[in-house]
Amino acid sequence: MNKKIEVLSDKPALVNRALELILSKIEPAIQQRGQFTIALSGGSTPKPLYEAIANQKLPWDKIHVFWGDERYVSPEHQDSNQLMARRAWLDKVEISESNIHPMPTDAAQPSQAAVKYEEHLQKFFQVSPGEFPALDVNLLGMGDDAHTASLFPHTEALAVKDRLVTVGNKDGNSRLTFTYPFINAARCVIFLVAGENKKPALAQVFAPQADSSTYPSRLIQPQGELWWLFDQAAGSEVAHQ
Ligand code: 6PG
Repeated sequence: MNKKIEVLSDKPALVNRALELILSKIEPAIQQRGQFTIALSGGSTPKPLYEAIANQKLPWDKIHVFWGDERYVSPEHQDSNQLMARRAWLDKVEISESNIHPMPTDAAQPSQAAVKYEEHLQKFFQVSPGEFPALDVNLLGMGDDAHTASLFPHTEALAVKDRLVTVGNKDGNSRLTFTYPFINAARCVIFLVAGENKKPALAQVFAPQADSSTYPSRLIQPQGELWWLFDQAAGSEVAHQ
């Protein structure tokens, strides 16, 4: 694992650095594999990043967008990660719907939707069950409880190691989430963390010893690149460890 930590002065600088990093991965991916694949995180932090990506002139026909987690709500619901990314970015660019791969939230059971998305991923990446395809970029946020994607502390999702997608649970509300082994298969994982409220969790994630089921972001140890991008408010102490 090739881990890099960068503390940026403020959130705009954080967004610009993340944009620069993502853009640097697109051409090489297209040259080597004919496409660029990215999984998006939800929540509020990445919204300005998605707005900035929408302003770029990119080969949209070669870019495929997935989600690393999703609240189990309709795509029109205000909490939908898909809705946020469409409004901030995807509705503003000439990208085909066949290049947009939202997590399905219309199955009667979230577990059925998890299987459906897993099968979609396996077909897209042409892998068999048990194989973990490599996304070019997996974007992640981190909650103030050190969760990432929808891998929440002390939940069953943390124990799922033989699937790409599983069901997460936040306070009794179902989510769909990539499993941590699938996240770790990515060529490049980028955490975007901003805000004073994330500082205590970051301290535990970067502590020499701490329990991964209590601080799930510790589980993210990709074979490829791992970038931790913080603003000063969140990461000023961690960076000097
Ligand atoms: C989600 C996210 C989640 C998010 C963190 C941080 O669906 O909510 O994928 O993992 O990244 O909760 O959220 P903020 O960026 O809003 O702090």
